[in-house]
Amino acid sequence: MAVVLRVRPPNPRERAAPSVLHVLNQRAVLFASEEPGGTGNGPGRPRRNLEFEFDHVFGERATQEEVFQHTTLPLLDTLLAGYNCSVFAYGASGVGKTHTMMGSKSTPGIVHLATVELYKRLEAMKDRSCEVLVSYQQVYKERVYDLLKPQGPLNIWEQPGKGVVAQGLSLHQPKTPEQLLGLLAKGNKNRAQRSTKANAASSRSHAIFQIQVKHWDLTGGDPHVAKLSFIDLAGSERAWDTPGRGEGMWEGTSINRSLLAFKSVVRALAGAKGGQCHVPFRDSKLTLLLKDSLVGSFRSTGIAAVSPAAPTKEVEEPTGLQELPGLEESIRLEELKDLESPGTEESPGLEESPGLEESPGLEESPGLEEAALPCYGWV
Ligand SMILES: Nc1ncnc2c1ncn2[C@@H]1O[C@H](COP(=O)(O)OP(=O)(O)OP(=O)(O)O)[C@@H](O)[C@H]1O
Ligand SMILES: [Mg+2]
Repeated sequence: MAVVLRVRPPNPRERAAPSVLHVLNQRAVLFASEEPGGTGNGPGRPRRNLEFEFDHVFGERATQEEVFQHTTLPLLDTLLAGYNCSVFAYGASGVGKTHTMMGSKSTPGIVHLATVELYKRLEAMKDRSCEVLVSYQQVYKERVYDLLKPQGPLNIWEQPGKGVVAQGLSLHQPKTPEQLLGLLAKGNKNRAQRSTKANAASSRSHAIFQIQVKHWDLTGGDPHVAKLSFIDLAGSERAWDTPGRGEGMWEGTSINRSLLAFKSVVRALAGAKGGQCHVPFRDSKLTLLLKDSLVGSFRSTGIAAVSPAAPTKEVEEPTGLQELPGLEESIRLEELKDLESPGTEESPGLEESPGLEESPGLEESPGLEEAALPCYGWV
């Protein structure tokens, strides 16, 4: 597993505050924060200077293309060689996860750039035939929804040889990069999103976009089959950043709870290296769905997104650095680099939480035909 850090530019709200995160070089950052009341030089509480190393550090000026080149491009060869790969973005709310993954029309994100490159490569394989399958799901308030075929929540379970699957998840067969990107846009429209104090367009769900590729020699031989997963996690947030006391609060609590479960899984995996260990994948739907990406992928890249900003009255802690969650988890993820299947043992009993409402904004919209395939596709 590779772990990279992306530091986004400070937003207007943060601009008046001093930077506490300094990019030292392409692999290291310095977190230098003044403790309240301290000067860093004389008496008072000391300045904290912590240096962190990553596989790559992207500074405020890094382009989407640069991030793509160092995080996702190297995975495409692995994917086409028949191995599962994954890229996930995590960090606090408003630090640039969705920007990195999806981007905008003028600055497309890594999913867009990977799609264009993937189709180029498939078209260049003149002596091989290929097919692409796409699915897009979200975990919203501990329920799994299909973003490409609006319907009620989906049940998930582990299928021997297939990993964790969502029953009834629709699969689509785009023939061109444009069709694939159309599916991505459709799913993004259906994804739960709302305005919060930390982010005007905050993702309220964890999103998993998967591209399965199958290609085979026209003269015979076994096909190469593998999937590339893009996971855009919802961001952790403080209760007072969530909109209102009702729905927004409920969403925020659910996001934080599943991210805590994610943290426990990462901790357990980091501690499990080389030995048997209980890894609590089943503590949340998110972690169960991510099991494939964390231990079932041949190659994974985690993108930790952070803001460089120091606390302001409004933003009391540097966004993305509350107790250094992004950095701390990145360091732990670094420890997973050489992780082989750790022989995990799981806790039983993932139950449907009662009384949760269905995902909002899931409307039927005309799209590509669903592939006539089992719900889990080829892999
Ligand atoms: N590298 C960047 N360059 C310029 N703008 C950025 C960058 N990263 C993020 N932004 C801007 O910051 C805002 C918040 O980004 P984004 O929505 O990606 O955050 P997020 O981490 O996905 O948050 P949430 O967890 O709430 O969904 C957006 O307006 C986005 O365009
Ligand atoms: Mg987001």
